[in-house]
Amino acid sequence: MTPNNTVVVTDQLESVLALSMAAFPEDKLFLVVDQNSNRFCLPLLCDTPGIEKFKKIVIPAGEENKTLSTAELIWLFLSQNGADRKSLIVNLGGGMVTDLGSFAASTFKRGVQFINIPTTLLAQVDASVGGKTGFNFNGLKNEIGVINQPIQVIIDTRFLNTLDHANFISGYAEMIKHGLIHSQDHLAELRKFDLQKPDFLVLKQMISHSVLIKNYFVEKDPQEKGIRKALNFGHTIGHAFESLSLTQEKPLLHGHAVAFGMIAELYLSHMICGFPDGNMHHLSKWLISVYGNYRITPDVYETLYEYMGHDKKNEGKRINFTLLCSAGEVQINKNCEKSQIFEALDYFRELNN
Ligand code: GLY
Repeated sequence: MTPNNTVVVTDQLESVLALSMAAFPEDKLFLVVDQNSNRFCLPLLCDTPGIEKFKKIVIPAGEENKTLSTAELIWLFLSQNGADRKSLIVNLGGGMVTDLGSFAASTFKRGVQFINIPTTLLAQVDASVGGKTGFNFNGLKNEIGVINQPIQVIIDTRFLNTLDHANFISGYAEMIKHGLIHSQDHLAELRKFDLQKPDFLVLKQMISHSVLIKNYFVEKDPQEKGIRKALNFGHTIGHAFESLSLTQEKPLLHGHAVAFGMIAELYLSHMICGFPDGNMHHLSKWLISVYGNYRITPDVYETLYEYMGHDKKNEGKRINFTLLCSAGEVQINKNCEKSQIFEALDYFRELNN
């Protein structure tokens, strides 16, 4: 199934890539992988006709390497190997590789065309689609970057066979978000899906559905001036949980933090936009059953509130939320009182105790 011209969901990755690379000079093909995708994902491409023509750079894996110095490594490699504006850069890996490789491509000689081949569920349904590129800076995630669209995103669910459960459900949280902000049908299929025994054929259809929803918002508002902010549902409080967890024993994976953020933001949606409370309770309990408990105490509320204040989506001092009137009906640019945010944190805390 093909959500649009740019994003292809396929199990014929080799032939899709062979077709796309044929439009570029064969000495101008570059591949960016990290240590993990080099080892575990690149073998899936070995039957691609012409794959040996790619000049490959292997960057260090891990969020801690999503930095300017790793971008420099890519620029240096491109520079020393004759890359120019006729080149094609293929980024193969999770969100760290697609974000950083896309940034390096977007800025090298003022922009080289690139293709993303995301290999984690999180990167397939979110990071690699929509053109957000960049790296972490000064302790802040994705602080530096540009929005620039890939010429193609090729999604192959065969990469997900080896993904562990925690990382799998991390990506799944962004799919749930897509259902909540835009489609009750998508939400219903996600709730029905057996996460313990994933059926990969059904998953492939659901990924297509999810990517269509993401694209709907990106195409309407590529620069995130308005309705694209719908995609931030669950992220204002979710990012605060993620940052808090970095100071604790066990950091939360991004999607887990977003799932917990969605619970608190469902409560805000109920208070501010009239989201029905019965549905809010059902959804919250379902999210806890998938993601487990995350216990907080009232003494972290001020710290969480501080973190929310640092969110780059805020304008001025006000904390900007995306909320829901009902599943599928979204409202952007909603500001909440500190007391309302604390009440939402109370709801979350009590649910987890
Ligand atoms: N991850 C949300 C967006 O791409 O806008």
